[in-house]
Amino acid sequence: SSLTSKRSIPELQHAPAPLVMVTAYDFPGGRHAEAAGVDLILVGDSLGNVVLGYDSTAPVTLGDMIHHARAVRRGAPNTFMVVDMPFGTYHTGVTDAMRNAVRIIQETGADAVKMEGATTEILQVVDNLTRNGIPVMGHVGLMPQTATAQGGLKVQGKDDESARLTLSGALALEQAGAFSVVLEAIPSRLAKLITGRLGVPTIGIGAGVGCDGQVLVAHDLLGIYEDEEKKIAKRYAELGRAAREAIAAYAAEVRAREFPAKENSFVMKDEVLGKLY
Ligand code: KIV
Ligand code: NA
Repeated sequence: SSLTSKRSIPELQHAPAPLVMVTAYDFPGGRHAEAAGVDLILVGDSLGNVVLGYDSTAPVTLGDMIHHARAVRRGAPNTFMVVDMPFGTYHTGVTDAMRNAVRIIQETGADAVKMEGATTEILQVVDNLTRNGIPVMGHVGLMPQTATAQGGLKVQGKDDESARLTLSGALALEQAGAFSVVLEAIPSRLAKLITGRLGVPTIGIGAGVGCDGQVLVAHDLLGIYEDEEKKIAKRYAELGRAAREAIAAYAAEVRAREFPAKENSFVMKDEVLGKLY
């Protein structure tokens, strides 16, 4: 057994129960995830959508990812942390990808990086990074960084050609050295088939119950955004409503001069106050 509670890659790969992964983007997010006892934290480039307010992940930079992942790590020192390589940081050749992955590992304390796709170029990068000791999580199915080229944010692998492409991509990622593969937005029967074919764990989002693990975007499961139902996520809380109601209650009390109350205020002795007059 290890000195810390952080799971090792072999432990993750041989876990008896489904792996639990959740995204985090800052110190409290890391704290909550670690306290809840998840197996892996993903600092996802969904950062762009749920934290930075962009309408896609494409604008997210390496600097953004490093800045946020460092904060997550401070909140979750003992949880296996995967950091997404953002769009453009692993597409200009193996050397650039290696340099950017090294920055993520060194500057954030990440245990692994994640990247989308299984093209020849991406597979070369995965092979190179893993040979050089940087664990890589793959990602196939719906790939938000290049969703425009996939025809929008759509379920993948529904026809036989697309299904074959998703399966062969996942298999090739394992061959290239990926220690795990995310399957996003594919039919559950295809995800189950891929999971059966792969030696390394699959982690699903919108991919059914037959994967080796599940991942959700924290903001989705926490219900941070009101009236935003997503088929692939379940809302386990309504923190968006709670936040709005709390801020509105504060505003009402300030306007009614009910806050701050006596117990929130500091006292001064009469004689000290008297000297001021
Ligand atoms: O960026 C992200 O949050 C992800 C998960 C949805 C897998 O890549
Ligand atoms: Na991502």
